[in-house]
Amino acid sequence: MENCYSNIFNFNKKNLKKTIKSLNNHKVVALPTETVYGLGGNAYSRNSIQKIFKLKGRPKSNPLIIHYYSLNEANNDIEFNQYFKKLYKRFCPGPITFVLKKKIRSKIHSLACSNLKTIAVRFPANKIIRSILKNLNYPLAMPSANKSTKVSPVSPVDVFDEFNNKIKIILDGGNCKIGIESTVVDLTNYPRILRPGIISKNSIEKTLKIKIKNNKKNRKVISPGMMKKHYSPGIPVKINQLKYDGKSAYVYLGKKFINKKNFFTLSKRFDLDEAASNLYKTLRFIKKQGYKRIQISKIPKKGSGIAINDRIERASKS
Ligand code: TXA
Ligand code: MG
Repeated sequence: MENCYSNIFNFNKKNLKKTIKSLNNHKVVALPTETVYGLGGNAYSRNSIQKIFKLKGRPKSNPLIIHYYSLNEANNDIEFNQYFKKLYKRFCPGPITFVLKKKIRSKIHSLACSNLKTIAVRFPANKIIRSILKNLNYPLAMPSANKSTKVSPVSPVDVFDEFNNKIKIILDGGNCKIGIESTVVDLTNYPRILRPGIISKNSIEKTLKIKIKNNKKNRKVISPGMMKKHYSPGIPVKINQLKYDGKSAYVYLGKKFINKKNFFTLSKRFDLDEAASNLYKTLRFIKKQGYKRIQISKIPKKGSGIAINDRIERASKS
């Protein structure tokens, strides 16, 4: 079906070719993944990576995630270890990112890794991004397709709202199934969660048969997720709100206020995975409706609720 956006393209053979040609010419394109939409560019190309940082307004000190089709390609760039092999086998392709030691012979441009000796690698599951990765001679550096500090996009129109016509190709993969960014786990030493996601600490622990730690505040590598102002919908957010203030948009779990003006549920059935997948969509919708403030009720800190709380706590600090 045609849409009214000149830079949003359906996924078909012709547009797949067009996208690949664009990437080969060091252009940056917006692509769907199962988590959120990404801004993809050739990870070997200084030119492509510079464009990504510029478009996002992202500090150069914040490294990008490198996306691969399979282990074969990643083997050129990272040192595998036992933890990685086990987690890859259990969860990939899927919504998890691994920080690993970079091989000396790796061709990934140092700018993509902010000159670090490590690389964050991910093997996305979404069919569209996989069909692109399969047809390239290089991996893709791909941060979320939003301006730095803003909420990640979960639909092609969200990407358009961030960048308008500054990106020439936004490939339409519909709404992202998972709706929040991948879990980031540092495997360079003893495993550590740098960013919680839908793949929980618990299930990583079960797979590795060890207890793991959360990120410490004094780590050398600061993720953008650690920046104070991050995941901001552009209006003030208050969390752990028990009482409606009478004028904000109120975000909650369940169906207590269903069909009531100014109330927005993340999941009628208190399903935290579903709530995570609706979070960014709901925050963007509220902003578009013209609300000036958002209140969010208490969200349980278990399962995907941990990732939700991580994002909304940061959103509330802007
Ligand atoms: O789901 C996702 O991961 C999405 C989709 C598009 O794949 N991508 C994404 O990228 O969320 P971005 O750039 O928005 O977040 C990347 C995170 C940041 O917190 C960054 O600091 C961290 O990964 N990161 C990247 N390289 C790293 C490294 N070498 N060491 C530690 N953290 C790293
Ligand atoms: Mg991001």
